[in-house]
Amino acid sequence: MINKKTALVTGASRGIGRSIAIRLARDGYAVIITSKTAEPDNLEKGAFEVKNAIEQAGGEAFICRADISLKEERDRLIRFAVDTIGRVDLLVNNAGIEPPVLDMLEASEERFDTVVNTNLKGPYLLTQQIAKSMVKWMRDNIVESPRIVFITSVQAYMSSPKGSEYAMTKAALHMAMRNFAHRLGKENIYVFEIAPGIIYTDMSSVHEESINDMIEEGEKLITNRWGRPEDVAALVSAIARGDLDYSTGSTIEVGGGMGLPKL
Ligand SMILES: NC(=O)c1ccc[n+]([C@@H]2O[C@H](COP(=O)([O-])OP(=O)(O)OC[C@H]3O[C@@H](n4cnc5c(N)ncnc54)[C@H](OP(=O)(O)O)[C@@H]3O)[C@@H](O)[C@H]2O)c1
Repeated sequence: MINKKTALVTGASRGIGRSIAIRLARDGYAVIITSKTAEPDNLEKGAFEVKNAIEQAGGEAFICRADISLKEERDRLIRFAVDTIGRVDLLVNNAGIEPPVLDMLEASEERFDTVVNTNLKGPYLLTQQIAKSMVKWMRDNIVESPRIVFITSVQAYMSSPKGSEYAMTKAALHMAMRNFAHRLGKENIYVFEIAPGIIYTDMSSVHEESINDMIEEGEKLITNRWGRPEDVAALVSAIARGDLDYSTGSTIEVGGGMGLPKL
């Protein structure tokens, strides 16, 4: 059992989740790093690289490999958080996949199921179980002010017919965030959505050339640079400190002005 504030960050082996895990560890949280894959012998990239970076900086981290889309692996992660660690003060639902761009008229049912199970069903059901435990941990004075964050996307509200399933899962997570914020308000558990725009990671860098062109044109972004994983992590850090508690139920965009309606 851990007796310091603990954050569970899904998809923390790289990209945005990695940056969030490292920032929270710097802020004094013990961090449970989860990812779909985790290779113990790889200290260059992946969950063990992140754990190592946190420990080298004097922090504390644990790895629990779990495919968020599969019930048995989600249940194992929940057991690890509840029975082994014994607390989660902050849950960050970050893990997600974006399949290759494809006209929505051509996309398969299999693609639909994979994206929905990973991006929506996984985080929704994980949050349900962790939230139940948070209520109990509050009553037992184990945690003080638990918080939950959903990482969605500007695609939750900007149409994208070549990434329709992805965008729909993010829109649905937006409502999940609102429903959890509503239900958990009376329990003093605070819930937020962060909607990134274009953040430089493995997920987005496959479109590097077209995104560079877009940034150069200056039409869609009002800030002429890529977003960085640290831009998202800074906001999670503020949420973790409690700075935004009175704004529970809110969506905050980290998109360089991407979602701003423009003339
Ligand atoms: N990058 C952007 O521009 C951008 C924009 C808007 C929203 N987002 C959202 O931000 C979040 C993080 O994106 P990112 O760009 O950092 O992505 P990324 O670099 O592709 O990293 C994805 C992370 O999610 C994990 N993951 C994927 N499928 C999983 C599964 N089934 N079970 C458990 N973990 C799984 C990966 O684990 P493995 O390493 O084991 O594969 C990895 O840690 C996603 O929800 C994404 O939709 C990103």
